[in-house]
Amino acid sequence: MTGASGGIGRALSEHLVAQGLSVFGLDLVEDPDPPAGVRSLPLDVTAPGDVERAAAAVYELASGPVDLVCCAGIVEDDVAAEDMSIAQFDAVMAVNLRGVFLSCQAFGRRLLAGSGGSIVNIASMSGNQVVNYPQRQSAYNASKAAVTALTKSLAVEWGPRGVRVNAVSPGYVDTPLLALKKHQFDQWKPGIVLARFAGTSEIARAVAFLLGSDSSYCCGTELVVDGGYSLR
Ligand SMILES: NC(=O)c1ccc[n+]([C@@H]2O[C@H](COP(=O)([O-])OP(=O)(O)OC[C@H]3O[C@@H](n4cnc5c(N)ncnc54)[C@H](O)[C@@H]3O)[C@@H](O)[C@H]2O)c1
Repeated sequence: MTGASGGIGRALSEHLVAQGLSVFGLDLVEDPDPPAGVRSLPLDVTAPGDVERAAAAVYELASGPVDLVCCAGIVEDDVAAEDMSIAQFDAVMAVNLRGVFLSCQAFGRRLLAGSGGSIVNIASMSGNQVVNYPQRQSAYNASKAAVTALTKSLAVEWGPRGVRVNAVSPGYVDTPLLALKKHQFDQWKPGIVLARFAGTSEIARAVAFLLGSDSSYCCGTELVVDGGYSLR
């Protein structure tokens, strides 16, 4: 799993370990204190060499079938589109889109060459469902819409060859990703039908569903887990 040390990644790691799975936690720096059952490996998802090395290491160390969750992501902090620098735009795209593509490619090649498997990409409701308000995050929103399109594209290419690719699109989850936007929580809350933010474990359970055999007929599915935010 990429982005394994973040809010959602850590909760998902713990959830998968509790289900009896071994987790390789891939993140920018090696986690000095990973949850029990998680083996931490460093990688920058934007760097093809890093991603290839991490995939090779996982395959060397894994004792059973391998699946992939792409959870690494970043967001710009409320930048007006007309003021956004190319560097800011590219930085978000590099992690959120290029990173997902590189990770899917490196692991997908191995899954296709083996006995298949399952990939889940973390997109966002801020892609195909809504353009969040009032924060301005055009690069993030565009990157997440692209992750969903990439997910569907890979699903069509790889599904017939035994690799299912699906996406989870969370709504608002209180994690470090939103740390800079906490002052906006009160503005978002009235829009959430369930009137609360998601717990990380609620996102983890949705990802685990798409990753495992309970979702064996899901192919290119985008599972929106947003407490109803995008309904109104
Ligand atoms: N928190 C939310 O409300 C929310 C909503 C919708 C979607 N998401 C998505 O869920 C995913 C996880 O978000 P989170 O809330 O846990 O965020 P987080 O900031 O807590 O975790 C993100 C993780 O990604 C890692 N990361 C960043 N750049 C990386 C890189 N270049 N290479 C490897 N790892 C890198 C970070 O080190 C961090 O551990 C992201 O893709 C995010 O866009 C989050």
